[in-house]
Amino acid sequence: MIIAVDGPAASGKGTIARALAKHYRLPYLDTGLLYRAVGENVRRLELDPEKEADAVAACDFDDHLLDDDVLRSDDVGKLASIVSAHPLVRAALLHRQRRFARQPEGAVLDGRDIGTVIAPDASAKLFVRATPTIRARRRHAELRERGSSVSIDRVLADIRARDLRDSMRAAAPMVPANDAALLDTSFLSIEAAIKRAIELVERQVNLKAENAAHG
Ligand code: CDP
Repeated sequence: MIIAVDGPAASGKGTIARALAKHYRLPYLDTGLLYRAVGENVRRLELDPEKEADAVAACDFDDHLLDDDVLRSDDVGKLASIVSAHPLVRAALLHRQRRFARQPEGAVLDGRDIGTVIAPDASAKLFVRATPTIRARRRHAELRERGSSVSIDRVLADIRARDLRDSMRAAAPMVPANDAALLDTSFLSIEAAIKRAIELVERQVNLKAENAAHG
Protein backbone atom coordinates (compact mmCIF):
# COMPACT_ATOMS: atom_id res chain seq x y z
CA MET A 1 0.00 0.00 0.00
CA ILE A 2 1.41 3.39 -1.04
CA ILE A 3 0.13 6.44 0.86
CA ALA A 4 0.86 9.86 -0.63
CA VAL A 5 0.72 12.85 1.71
CA ASP A 6 1.16 16.27 0.10
CA GLY A 7 0.71 19.82 1.28
CA PRO A 8 2.40 23.14 2.03
CA ALA A 9 4.94 24.02 4.72
CA ALA A 10 3.84 23.43 8.32
CA SER A 11 0.44 22.10 7.29
CA GLY A 12 1.03 19.05 9.48
CA LYS A 13 1.78 16.69 6.61
CA GLY A 14 5.00 15.37 8.17
CA THR A 15 3.36 14.56 11.51
CA ILE A 16 0.42 12.91 9.76
CA ALA A 17 2.63 10.94 7.36
CA ARG A 18 4.82 9.65 10.21
CA ALA A 19 1.72 8.62 12.19
CA LEU A 20 0.26 6.80 9.17
CA ALA A 21 3.57 4.98 8.65
CA LYS A 22 3.49 3.85 12.27
CA HIS A 23 -0.19 2.87 12.13
CA TYR A 24 0.17 0.79 8.96
CA ARG A 25 3.76 -0.32 9.73
CA LEU A 26 5.12 1.06 6.48
CA PRO A 27 8.48 2.65 5.72
CA TYR A 28 8.37 6.45 5.57
CA LEU A 29 10.17 9.00 3.40
CA ASP A 30 10.14 12.76 3.97
CA THR A 31 10.91 13.83 0.39
CA GLY A 32 11.39 17.45 1.45
CA LEU A 33 14.66 16.33 3.05
CA LEU A 34 16.04 15.37 -0.37
CA TYR A 35 15.40 18.87 -1.72
CA ARG A 36 16.75 20.35 1.49
CA ALA A 37 19.94 18.28 1.09
CA VAL A 38 20.37 19.67 -2.43
CA GLY A 39 19.80 23.20 -1.09
CA GLU A 40 22.37 22.73 1.67
CA ASN A 41 24.86 21.17 -0.74
CA VAL A 42 24.49 24.17 -3.07
CA ARG A 43 25.40 26.40 -0.13
CA ARG A 44 28.39 24.25 0.89
CA LEU A 45 29.72 24.17 -2.66
CA GLU A 46 29.14 27.93 -2.94
CA LEU A 47 26.97 27.48 -6.04
CA ASP A 48 24.00 29.56 -7.21
CA PRO A 49 20.63 27.93 -6.35
CA GLU A 50 18.87 29.92 -9.09
CA LYS A 51 21.09 28.32 -11.77
CA GLU A 52 19.79 24.95 -12.87
CA ALA A 53 23.24 23.53 -13.75
CA ASP A 54 24.59 24.53 -10.32
CA ALA A 55 21.62 22.98 -8.53
CA VAL A 56 21.95 19.77 -10.56
CA ALA A 57 25.64 19.54 -9.64
CA ALA A 58 24.55 19.63 -5.97
CA CYS A 59 22.16 16.67 -6.36
CA ASP A 60 25.02 14.25 -5.84
CA PHE A 61 25.09 14.71 -2.06
CA ASP A 62 26.45 12.36 0.57
CA ASP A 63 23.56 10.40 2.18
CA HIS A 64 24.90 11.27 5.66
CA LEU A 65 23.71 14.79 4.96
CA LEU A 66 20.11 13.55 5.28
CA ASP A 67 20.68 13.03 9.02
CA ASP A 68 22.13 16.49 9.58
CA ASP A 69 19.95 18.78 11.70
CA VAL A 70 21.05 21.77 9.62
CA LEU A 71 18.54 20.62 6.99
CA ARG A 72 15.69 21.61 9.32
CA SER A 73 16.61 25.30 9.34
CA ASP A 74 14.45 27.85 7.60
CA ASP A 75 17.31 29.10 5.43
CA VAL A 76 17.80 25.63 4.02
CA GLY A 77 14.02 25.34 3.50
CA LYS A 78 14.16 28.45 1.37
CA LEU A 79 17.11 27.12 -0.65
CA ALA A 80 15.19 23.84 -1.08
CA SER A 81 12.22 25.71 -2.47
CA ILE A 82 14.48 27.49 -5.00
CA VAL A 83 16.38 24.41 -6.23
CA SER A 84 13.21 22.29 -6.34
CA ALA A 85 11.74 24.50 -9.10
CA HIS A 86 14.38 23.25 -11.59
CA PRO A 87 13.01 20.37 -13.69
CA LEU A 88 16.43 18.68 -13.85
CA VAL A 89 16.71 18.67 -10.06
CA ARG A 90 13.29 17.04 -9.81
CA ALA A 91 14.34 14.50 -12.46
CA ALA A 92 17.55 13.72 -10.56
CA LEU A 93 15.56 12.90 -7.39
CA LEU A 94 12.66 11.11 -9.09
CA HIS A 95 14.01 7.55 -9.25
CA ARG A 96 15.10 7.50 -5.66
CA GLN A 97 11.57 8.45 -4.56
CA ARG A 98 9.85 6.01 -6.93
CA ARG A 99 12.13 3.20 -5.78
CA PHE A 100 11.21 3.96 -2.19
CA ALA A 101 7.49 4.06 -3.01
CA ARG A 102 7.60 0.72 -4.82
CA GLN A 103 9.02 -1.39 -2.02
CA PRO A 104 7.11 -4.68 -1.82
CA GLU A 105 5.26 -3.82 1.40
CA GLY A 106 4.49 -0.26 0.24
CA ALA A 107 5.43 3.06 1.80
CA VAL A 108 4.28 6.44 3.04
CA LEU A 109 5.85 9.47 1.34
CA ASP A 110 5.25 13.13 2.08
CA GLY A 111 6.02 16.12 -0.13
CA ARG A 112 4.44 18.33 -2.75
CA ASP A 113 4.02 16.08 -5.80
CA ILE A 114 3.75 12.56 -4.40
CA GLY A 115 0.12 12.04 -5.45
CA THR A 116 0.57 13.78 -8.80
CA VAL A 117 4.03 12.73 -10.05
CA ILE A 118 5.92 10.31 -7.82
CA ALA A 119 3.11 7.84 -7.07
CA PRO A 120 0.00 8.71 -9.13
CA ASP A 121 -1.11 5.10 -8.53
CA ALA A 122 -1.00 5.42 -4.72
CA SER A 123 -3.66 3.49 -2.76
CA ALA A 124 -4.51 6.61 -0.78
CA LYS A 125 -3.75 10.30 -1.24
CA LEU A 126 -4.10 13.12 1.22
CA PHE A 127 -3.59 16.82 0.63
CA VAL A 128 -3.05 18.45 4.01
CA ARG A 129 -3.54 22.16 4.44
CA ALA A 130 -4.09 24.91 7.02
CA THR A 131 -4.33 28.70 6.84
CA PRO A 132 -1.04 30.57 6.32
CA THR A 133 -1.37 32.32 9.71
CA ILE A 134 -1.82 29.07 11.58
CA ARG A 135 1.05 27.45 9.69
CA ALA A 136 3.28 30.45 10.49
CA ARG A 137 2.43 30.10 14.19
CA ARG A 138 3.35 26.41 14.16
CA ARG A 139 6.60 26.94 12.24
CA HIS A 140 7.51 29.87 14.48
CA ALA A 141 7.08 27.74 17.61
CA GLU A 142 9.19 24.97 16.05
CA LEU A 143 11.97 27.37 15.10
CA ARG A 144 12.00 29.00 18.54
CA GLU A 145 12.32 25.61 20.15
CA ARG A 146 15.40 25.12 18.02
CA GLY A 147 16.85 28.35 19.36
CA SER A 148 15.97 30.69 16.50
CA SER A 149 14.88 34.26 17.31
CA VAL A 150 13.12 34.85 13.99
CA SER A 151 9.91 36.96 14.18
CA ILE A 152 6.47 35.55 13.38
CA ASP A 153 6.02 38.18 10.65
CA ARG A 154 9.16 37.01 8.90
CA VAL A 155 8.01 33.36 9.16
CA LEU A 156 4.60 34.26 7.70
CA ALA A 157 6.22 36.20 4.84
CA ASP A 158 8.52 33.22 4.11
CA ILE A 159 5.58 30.81 4.15
CA ARG A 160 3.63 32.96 1.70
CA ALA A 161 6.66 33.35 -0.59
CA ARG A 162 7.30 29.60 -0.50
CA ASP A 163 3.63 28.74 -1.18
CA LEU A 164 3.70 31.03 -4.19
CA ARG A 165 6.98 29.60 -5.54
CA ASP A 166 5.87 26.00 -4.97
CA SER A 167 2.46 26.39 -6.57
CA MET A 168 3.43 28.65 -9.49
CA ARG A 169 6.44 26.68 -10.75
CA ALA A 170 6.04 24.92 -14.09
CA ALA A 171 7.69 21.66 -12.97
CA ALA A 172 5.46 19.55 -10.71
CA PRO A 173 3.69 22.46 -9.00
CA MET A 174 2.08 21.92 -5.62
CA VAL A 175 -1.55 21.08 -6.43
CA PRO A 176 -3.83 18.46 -4.90
CA ALA A 177 -4.16 15.37 -7.11
CA ASN A 178 -7.70 15.06 -8.55
CA ASP A 179 -8.31 12.01 -6.41
CA ALA A 180 -6.71 13.34 -3.19
CA ALA A 181 -8.76 13.76 -0.02
CA LEU A 182 -8.38 17.25 1.45
CA LEU A 183 -7.57 17.46 5.13
CA ASP A 184 -7.61 20.92 6.71
CA THR A 185 -5.76 20.83 10.03
CA SER A 186 -6.27 24.53 10.93
CA PHE A 187 -8.56 23.78 13.85
CA LEU A 188 -7.62 20.19 14.61
CA SER A 189 -5.38 18.91 17.39
CA ILE A 190 -2.58 16.57 16.29
CA GLU A 191 -4.56 13.57 17.59
CA ALA A 192 -7.74 14.65 15.78
CA ALA A 193 -5.81 15.25 12.54
CA ILE A 194 -4.23 11.79 12.71
CA LYS A 195 -7.58 10.14 13.44
CA ARG A 196 -9.16 11.93 10.48
CA ALA A 197 -6.21 10.99 8.23
CA ILE A 198 -6.64 7.30 9.09
CA GLU A 199 -10.39 7.53 8.35
CA LEU A 200 -9.70 9.14 4.97
CA VAL A 201 -7.11 6.50 4.05
CA GLU A 202 -9.50 3.69 5.08
CA ARG A 203 -12.27 5.22 3.01
CA GLN A 204 -10.10 5.46 -0.12
CA VAL A 205 -8.66 1.99 0.25
CA ASN A 206 -12.14 0.45 0.81
CA LEU A 207 -13.58 2.31 -2.15
CA LYS A 208 -10.78 1.03 -4.39
CA ALA A 209 -11.36 -2.53 -3.15
CA GLU A 210 -15.12 -2.23 -3.85
CA ASN A 211 -14.50 -0.83 -7.34
CA ALA A 212 -12.05 -3.63 -8.07
CA ALA A 213 -14.57 -6.25 -6.88
CA HIS A 214 -17.29 -4.85 -9.10
CA GLY A 215 -14.92 -4.66 -12.09
O1 CDP B 1 7.52 21.49 5.42
P1 CDP B 1 8.40 22.43 4.70
O2 CDP B 1 7.78 23.01 3.49
O3 CDP B 1 9.04 23.46 5.55
O4 CDP B 1 9.62 21.68 4.13
P2 CDP B 1 9.79 20.46 3.19
O5 CDP B 1 8.58 19.63 3.04
O6 CDP B 1 11.02 19.84 3.73
O7 CDP B 1 10.09 21.08 1.74
C1 CDP B 1 11.07 22.07 1.49
C2 CDP B 1 10.91 22.56 0.05
O8 CDP B 1 11.25 21.50 -0.85
C3 CDP B 1 9.49 22.95 -0.33
O9 CDP B 1 9.23 24.34 -0.15
C4 CDP B 1 9.38 22.59 -1.80
O10 CDP B 1 9.76 23.66 -2.62
C5 CDP B 1 10.40 21.49 -1.98
N1 CDP B 1 9.77 20.16 -2.16
C6 CDP B 1 9.31 19.82 -3.41
O11 CDP B 1 9.38 20.63 -4.33
N2 CDP B 1 8.79 18.58 -3.64
C7 CDP B 1 8.68 17.69 -2.65
N3 CDP B 1 8.19 16.48 -2.91
C8 CDP B 1 9.12 18.02 -1.35
C9 CDP B 1 9.66 19.29 -1.13
